[in-house]
Amino acid sequence: MMTMERSGITTRPWSWRTPLLLLLLLVFLFVAGCCVRAAEDEQMRGGGRRRSRRRRAADVMVPITILNSAVEKGAVCMDGTPPAYHLDPGSGGGNRSWIVNLEGGGWCNNARTCRFRAGSRHGSSDHMERSIPFTGIMSSSPSDNPDFHSWNRVKIRYCDSGSFAGDAFDEQLKLQFRGQRIWGAVIQHLLDDAGMASAEQVLLTGCSAGGLAAILHCDQLRALLPHAATVKCLSDGGLFLDAVDVAGGRSLRSYYGDVVAMQAVAPNLPNTCTDHLDATSCFFPQNIIDGIKTPIFLLNAAYDVWQIEQSLAPNAADANGAWKACKFNRLACNASQLQFLQGFRDQMVAAVRVFSDSRSNGLFINSCFAHCQSELTVTWNGGSPALQNKRRFARILTSP
Ligand SMILES: *[C@@H]1O[C@H](CO)[C@@H](O)[C@H](O)[C@H]1NC(C)=O
Ligand SMILES: *[C@@H]1O[C@H](CO)[C@@H](O)[C@H](O)[C@H]1NC(C)=O
Repeated sequence: MMTMERSGITTRPWSWRTPLLLLLLLVFLFVAGCCVRAAEDEQMRGGGRRRSRRRRAADVMVPITILNSAVEKGAVCMDGTPPAYHLDPGSGGGNRSWIVNLEGGGWCNNARTCRFRAGSRHGSSDHMERSIPFTGIMSSSPSDNPDFHSWNRVKIRYCDSGSFAGDAFDEQLKLQFRGQRIWGAVIQHLLDDAGMASAEQVLLTGCSAGGLAAILHCDQLRALLPHAATVKCLSDGGLFLDAVDVAGGRSLRSYYGDVVAMQAVAPNLPNTCTDHLDATSCFFPQNIIDGIKTPIFLLNAAYDVWQIEQSLAPNAADANGAWKACKFNRLACNASQLQFLQGFRDQMVAAVRVFSDSRSNGLFINSCFAHCQSELTVTWNGGSPALQNKRRFARILTSP
């Protein structure tokens, strides 16, 4: 069995064959340092409900850029304010390499929750922090982020609540759902005005709702860059499964159905999926990852705590509160609850089976109770989990 420091995250080149990896990694680890810390962090962040931006002295604050010129293209946040991004320019050898990170933070699916978000940083650039720390894969610190610290790193703020994929205006609510336009306008701006058009390599990343967005937009980004540029994508905590909840329903499917309808997401979903499945199904990565042509890397905890809390055992599906303790703390789960979580992990492994056959894809499904691991120093490089002496899994992303 792997030790605490060595458990969890592996390194593997894009071209590695994956079944062996899955066997090695999908080990049910209950006591692993990285898992405990990551899960604690996530409970602080609460899937976007509450947030801790734990700062360390080394974290450099990166100022916001409000993209006023996007407004004339109809690319606006939910309340009509311009979209925004944060850019920390590259240096030295990294000056023609780019990380484009799509911010995450849940979605909204009805009048009440969407109105609420329109008055928050998730729906209005008026409410966004004027500067944010770049950590983990976004860090400019060579010791925290050895492989990407010198790259141009840009975080596109999330203010559409539809994983950058909607395009609608709700007359009744007077709310804009313009994620797809925001995506297009900011990327075009980075290409035309910030030098990304001459990039040699670009990595599209994102975690949670941003991880889903990275999957949805991976081939779209490829199409916008010169043929000579290397384009890859990394989805962190974005593998949201169409799973059966503890009440036997499909909570997340029902929720996604609302999002997709409210935001008119359908035309922006990959047609390799929509040509044979309904739009809601095509908002689930499991139904689109096999059709993506651009190399993509999936990083996800098999016991994704956001999915456990919000998709498997949301309050609405847990009327008598039987899952209340277990869903926040695995030590409080009884044998049958653990069995249920194990079943979820099995579904995740099944969902990536065909995907993992492609030599251009990569994946790391670890056994942590976590959600988003690439932007926290502790899960990215601080604890430096590794397997068989392979370096950080970051190395994968820079190998040919
Ligand atoms: C990037 O760095 C190279 C050499 O390291 C230099 O020749 C080039 O001008 C730089 N490009 C930019 C956009 O700074
Ligand atoms: C586990 O907990 C659930 C929910 O409280 C309960 O329905 C079930 O009977 C328990 N199972 C065992 C084996 O204790």
